[in-house]
Amino acid sequence: MTDAECVELMQWAAPRLRLRWEGFRRVRGQVCKRIGRRLRSLGLPDAAAYRARLEAELAEWEVLDALCRVTISRFYRDTWVFDLLGHGLLPARLGTLRERGETTLRVWSAGCASGEEAYTLSVMFWLGLQPYFPSARLELVATDADAALLERARRGCYPRGCLRELPAEWVARAFPSGGDAPCLAQEYRRGIDFLEQDLRSEMPDGPFDLVLCRNVAFTYFAPPLQREVLSRLVARLVPGGVLVIGGRESLPEGDFGLKRAGDSRSVFLRTVR
Ligand SMILES: C[S@@+](CC[C@H](N)C(=O)[O-])C[C@H]1O[C@@H](n2cnc3c(N)ncnc32)[C@H](O)[C@@H]1O
Repeated sequence: MTDAECVELMQWAAPRLRLRWEGFRRVRGQVCKRIGRRLRSLGLPDAAAYRARLEAELAEWEVLDALCRVTISRFYRDTWVFDLLGHGLLPARLGTLRERGETTLRVWSAGCASGEEAYTLSVMFWLGLQPYFPSARLELVATDADAALLERARRGCYPRGCLRELPAEWVARAFPSGGDAPCLAQEYRRGIDFLEQDLRSEMPDGPFDLVLCRNVAFTYFAPPLQREVLSRLVARLVPGGVLVIGGRESLPEGDFGLKRAGDSRSVFLRTVR
């Protein structure tokens, strides 16, 4: 299958999965390679034959949907976002909770891949925040549509390269096992639940103080679905709660009850109405 054939196939198929082809432009190499392998395993000669298979067999759409999942992640991805959370927004939020006599910071990592983002938050909480808010606790739910990734998340061991942006002092404390694939110490896994959920149709109930929805809905989902998902995300944020999107993403136009946190392009606060 040529690149042009794959692009044509994706342009036809993506809207039928409530996705948008443009989101895949930069990563189409890996997605097209997977689709090519699928064609070969089915003994199909080209993209047209695969399209015919999709039209004839409903179950093949699920296979294609899974082939379209881009799974890249790493710890402390977009360093400026975690700096802003750790040095400004989360201490402020924990201060508000303390004033109200509450102790639990509730977080959702949506499209959590193998847990890199959820565990970054946990390490930051226990090493960077909890010492200043000793009665605070973390409750974190991390969701993804891919069962195999969630299994890796529960194992909690990572190639060392995946940790390169996490502050070195935190790596030393949170990954004491060392080696090429160090594993996260048990104490940083407490309070975290990994759930298999498709963001297009399911979400945890909330409410949350912080929702991270990065490099999934606002890159790959079709615009009407982006708006629908955003409304449902905002409804799960407490007033003043924080929404984080990916560094290259932007939110759909419209009044969703959010304002930018300072001049950040990827961090928003739910406005208090
Ligand atoms: C590119 S990774 C982003 C991981 C992490 N949020 C980050 O920014 O580093 C996208 C993740 O979203 C997941 N995903 C894709 N479509 C999804 C859907 N419809 N529902 C839930 N998760 C989905 C993929 O399985 C993958 O783990």
